[in-house]
Amino acid sequence: MKVHNYRSKHYLNKNRTSFLCGVGTMPALFVLLFVLYCSFVVTGIAGAGSECDTLIVYYSRTGGCKEVADTLKKHIRADILEVTDTKDRSGSSGFFWAAFDSFFDRYTHIQPERFSFSAYSKIIFVSPLWYWKLSVPIRTLIHENRFDGKDLIFFTTGNIEVTKYAELGDDAPFIKRYLRDYLQNKCDTMKTFVQSSGGNITGYYHVATKERSVGDIQKDILKHTLNIQSEIQNHGKSFIQKQLWSDPIKDVLL
Ligand SMILES: Cc1cc2nc3c(=O)[nH]c(=O)nc-3n(C[C@H](O)[C@H](O)[C@H](O)COP(=O)(O)O)c2cc1C
Repeated sequence: MKVHNYRSKHYLNKNRTSFLCGVGTMPALFVLLFVLYCSFVVTGIAGAGSECDTLIVYYSRTGGCKEVADTLKKHIRADILEVTDTKDRSGSSGFFWAAFDSFFDRYTHIQPERFSFSAYSKIIFVSPLWYWKLSVPIRTLIHENRFDGKDLIFFTTGNIEVTKYAELGDDAPFIKRYLRDYLQNKCDTMKTFVQSSGGNITGYYHVATKERSVGDIQKDILKHTLNIQSEIQNHGKSFIQKQLWSDPIKDVLL
């Protein structure tokens, strides 16, 4: 290796000397500076591409959240991390244990076991709702890490449009008010849980999936994605609380 470097250096020096002698020092210097400038510009752009301060983290059991994460990735300059569960969550026994673990606030073993979030100031978590909470793998990830000072945004998918209940007034039928308050309670619990990791929750988006056409679901995913994208682009470093967050149906789940 050493011998090879020495030889190539020697070769370059030799050729550069004869090149300088042949065409004159000034034009040669000019060409050299130009080449250096070009390589600086090219590596500068490449470097900028790899320095990404946004990360999309997702878990998906049946593909819905993967679709969300893929759409986000297409429109937002971000790295992406898939979290997987070492427990088999497929089929009806997978469903049962997912419900069980979620109901009893249990954690699981996830892959990757360790991940450094230090390079990211904004993290978008994409998770299905399991028993009105973030899924067990995403809860585990949040439980096992610190997100101090980072902007966190949440994007969930679930069977129903949870946000519509928060809009109900006190004149709504008892059963609906009960569900509204029940969801609000779940929301507060999750919010406290996330905040205990040190992160600032700056946005929450949700898409309902049950009995809806693929086209309608995709439209909603894209609409929220574009909102997140424009928030990032228009406001530079921080996510701005808007969307579900700042209007009457805010704080629905988180
Ligand atoms: C164990 C379990 C519990 C669930 N609980 C809820 C729930 O409380 N509310 C809801 O709207 N959907 C619930 N769902 C439905 C999922 O959130 C929904 O199907 C989601 O879109 C799945 O996302 P995925 O395809 O990325 O796994 C639950 C699903 C599972 C497996």
